[in-house]
Amino acid sequence: MSKKVFIKTYGCQMNVYDSKRMADVLKPHGYEVADEADGADLVILNTCHIREKAAEKVYSEIGRLRAEKEAKALEGKNMYIAVAGCVAQAEGPEMMKRAPAIDMVLGPQTYHRLPDMLKSAEEQRSGGRRSARVLDTEFPIDTKFDHLPTDSDFDGPAAFLTIQEGCDKFCAFCVVPYTRGAEYSRPVADVLKEAQSLVDKGVVEITLLGQNVNAYHGDDGKGDTMTLGGLIKALDKIEGLGRIRYTTSHPRDMDQELIDAHRDLKSCMPYLHLPVQSGSDAILDAMNRKHTRDEYFAVIDRLREARPDLALSSDFIVGFPGETDQDFEDTLDLVRRVKYAQAYSFKYSPRPGTPASVNEDQVPEEVKSERLARLQALINEHQLEFNEASIGKEMDVLLEREGKLPGQLLGRSPYLQSVHVDLTKGDNALDVAGDKPYTDFMGQLVRVKIVEAGPNSLKGELVSALH
Ligand code: 5AD
Ligand code: SF4
Repeated sequence: MSKKVFIKTYGCQMNVYDSKRMADVLKPHGYEVADEADGADLVILNTCHIREKAAEKVYSEIGRLRAEKEAKALEGKNMYIAVAGCVAQAEGPEMMKRAPAIDMVLGPQTYHRLPDMLKSAEEQRSGGRRSARVLDTEFPIDTKFDHLPTDSDFDGPAAFLTIQEGCDKFCAFCVVPYTRGAEYSRPVADVLKEAQSLVDKGVVEITLLGQNVNAYHGDDGKGDTMTLGGLIKALDKIEGLGRIRYTTSHPRDMDQELIDAHRDLKSCMPYLHLPVQSGSDAILDAMNRKHTRDEYFAVIDRLREARPDLALSSDFIVGFPGETDQDFEDTLDLVRRVKYAQAYSFKYSPRPGTPASVNEDQVPEEVKSERLARLQALINEHQLEFNEASIGKEMDVLLEREGKLPGQLLGRSPYLQSVHVDLTKGDNALDVAGDKPYTDFMGQLVRVKIVEAGPNSLKGELVSALH
């Protein structure tokens, strides 16, 4: 009889990828993915620890699940609760103590052992014993990628592919080097194989993932390593793979080969998420970012020279310990100079175990809030300007989902803008009631003319189908 697993994913795209792999590894063991916890035999919370209150959110979710678990137990049925991801890695033993409803805690490197853990829990339960609780947060020498299947069903034309994990940069605010461990790159051959299998299923766009993706240095199988630029070049040769993106990058690792990929390869999308965090040299230094603002500008100049239409995105932290009004003004100045197509900004939150968390020069909450509001207003202004500049232009859009209205499909521009495409309007408008239903265009790259722009999305009309 098939069993049901519900996986709740918090945080970044790498967790989304990991959740899929957990589903894949459980599938041969009879687990089907459910879209709610109600009635599930196994619930996995795949957690994120990067910013504040993550652990609290997990505890309150477990509180809700506990009631469900107890109700099931009264009917003589089991529900297992597993906590995975970075909160599990960072706070595993405390979580076990604080929440007895948790059956399993797994760090991000141990997902392939999930079926074994479940099996032993089930065996003990069926033997009438309360199952032993499992905590597995090792960083094994062999990697989870060698054990995790990657044969998910087709899940839309845009897919993620993790190529790198962990980070050696140790920014003073960040938990990633502690929760995800040291930098690791998957071998080139593995990445190419997984990419090919995605394309075989109908995937047109792949986003390469890694905490520090442009530090990629995978084994090329010939006794050498390949950088991200080289890898993108190799992926570009896969027929049918129309678009390649990658995230998240560090300014220090933006080498010439990667910049050249943006210039030379049609598949390498003109969009780059390149977090700078702050525009102040003093704060960049205190953050241990290992570069100055001028060095960041120099990288941006080289990128824009290679690809003049490149759209940029970034992350910012406001209120890092010691940040003065002038430091913050420097951040606003950097934003005005770069003009991001979009950007994320956060209030600094002390993460336990990181160097900045014990700094005594913490910035008051209201100052952080005020700075965040000013920064976000500026970023939003630029985002709207960027979107409005698209009006009248033609661009390729990968249609990924149905829109709200009939005849409308939703996709992404090369610059990662959401575009609502009306297939019933424009030079090649479709007769929706005619013999070619508009949904036939789903999963395809089409040429679209942008006719309207808002702060968060664009509207366009079909010019032509590309394939
Ligand atoms: N406080 C606030 N923001 C943080 N980030 C990472 N750690 C912290 C922290 N302690 C932000 C950074 C990073 C993004 C993923 O999350 O901007 O780039
Ligand atoms: Fe964290 Fe990114 Fe800095 Fe690594 S480079 S420590 S992942 S912020």
